[in-house]
Amino acid sequence: MRHLISVIMSVAALLAAVPALAVSIVPQPVSVRENRSVVRLPETLVFYGRSAELKDLAEVWGESFSSLAGFRTGSERNANVKLYTDASMAKEEYSLEVSVENGVVIRGGSPAGVWWGMQTLAQILLQTSGGEGKPFMVPGLMIEDRPHFPYRAGMLDCCRHFFTVDEVKEFIDILALHKLNVFHWHLTDDQGWRIEIRKYPLLTEIGAVRKETLVGSLDAKPEIYDGLPYGKGCFFTREQIRDVVAYAAARQVTIIPEIEMPGHAEAALASYPWLGCRGEGYEVWPTWGVNEEIFCVGKESTFRFLEDVLDEVCDLFPGEYIHIGGDEVPYVRWEECPDCQALMKREGITDVAHLQGYLFSHIEKYLNAKGKRIIGWDEILDAGVTPTATVMSWRGPSGGIRAARQGNHVIMVPNTYFYLDYYQTRDPRRYGEPQGIGGYVPLSKSYSFDPYDQLSEEERQYITGIQANLWTEYISSFEHVQQMILPRYTALSEVSWSEGKTDMENFRSRVKAVMLPMYDLLGLNYARYGFYE
Ligand code: ACM
Ligand code: ZN
Repeated sequence: MRHLISVIMSVAALLAAVPALAVSIVPQPVSVRENRSVVRLPETLVFYGRSAELKDLAEVWGESFSSLAGFRTGSERNANVKLYTDASMAKEEYSLEVSVENGVVIRGGSPAGVWWGMQTLAQILLQTSGGEGKPFMVPGLMIEDRPHFPYRAGMLDCCRHFFTVDEVKEFIDILALHKLNVFHWHLTDDQGWRIEIRKYPLLTEIGAVRKETLVGSLDAKPEIYDGLPYGKGCFFTREQIRDVVAYAAARQVTIIPEIEMPGHAEAALASYPWLGCRGEGYEVWPTWGVNEEIFCVGKESTFRFLEDVLDEVCDLFPGEYIHIGGDEVPYVRWEECPDCQALMKREGITDVAHLQGYLFSHIEKYLNAKGKRIIGWDEILDAGVTPTATVMSWRGPSGGIRAARQGNHVIMVPNTYFYLDYYQTRDPRRYGEPQGIGGYVPLSKSYSFDPYDQLSEEERQYITGIQANLWTEYISSFEHVQQMILPRYTALSEVSWSEGKTDMENFRSRVKAVMLPMYDLLGLNYARYGFYE
């Protein structure tokens, strides 16, 4: 008996000796092993990287996290954070080791992998800081990590409301903080054209400005407008775009620009009325929803216009993908337009929806010849999609499931899980949420998303990644942008990066331990209420 008690006691002692992990990380890495050593790192860290790229990453990190740690660069011998690339690893893979002998060593398959490791380092330092002017006391540890999906993205709509270059850069910083590697930049819509096109200056002279803005709920009758012109000078110049592209690249983020066609185009039609079927009577739209005024595909001049615009867009954005929209296209104008009807007859097209497919396959060929690939919203599945287009599934996951089954690549951005313009609480008025578009997507809902639901092993390979959208009809300040994406980006981050999810309680406790304090440290505004549902 005494023997049994002593066995039980020693097992209990053994269990007690296995400590809970001292550091929480979001997104959850593939593996984290902590040991009992404690590594003391000075308040000012010395970074080493051999290549210019690694040195640049160190500089960018030093700037991004200046409120967390002091920063300077040094030699391999005296550095306490050493960065290496390792060709045997996958591009975005990294390992991070903290030891008494070597300090912090981060290895990545490419600068991107190293950079994601450096984001993890920031999370570790935040939790092991002894306070201002004091050293970090970091547990000895070994982390091995890589992303599950190659495409992990956030979209920001800069049309309904405009955000400045500095704000867009801050948005990119927030993406990187969550190990998200793609910025989908929504640049043209009915309510504002926001990218300078040299050949068509009226797009931003006329197309950027609407006479007023709907501010009440979409259901309110009569509708409530603010009576204030909006958008003069609110567009990105070519120089600004080049600057933002370089800023993103330095943070391992690729930008996908979106130029909407054939719908969501009234700002373009107001600028150049010959682009529409009726040829007159257009305005930059002051309200929200689905607009019947779309590009006329029956006129050759429309194709030349779109090609010219895309020439300039391709020139500005080095990434492989161009998003060409395709959502919410009513066909009433095409049905009544003699030019569009003549095109249908000429091409033997019997369903008006397939005029959209005709446009898309023409534009896709045009872009392919420039080395680019297209993405379209899931409506293109009904408009006659080519096998090589990537489908962005937004009306729930069903479009993505359908697309994967027919062998199209898919990006999942289901409104039911990742429309971050939707409310974060069940009772927005009670929690004091600002006026929004509707919907209900609390943090737990985003976290519950299973991108492979209903898909076979074979079909799963077509799911390229996951994205969250932020449409900005009711979001006019960047503070409000932050409050809508944070902390819900933590769910996006973990669902797209981590192979296996934890339960919600574990996830929530890690978000509380590391991400909310990180937002506080960096001065980011985040929703408190949504976090608890
Ligand atoms: C969309 O939300 N109309 C893509
Ligand atoms: Zn037409």
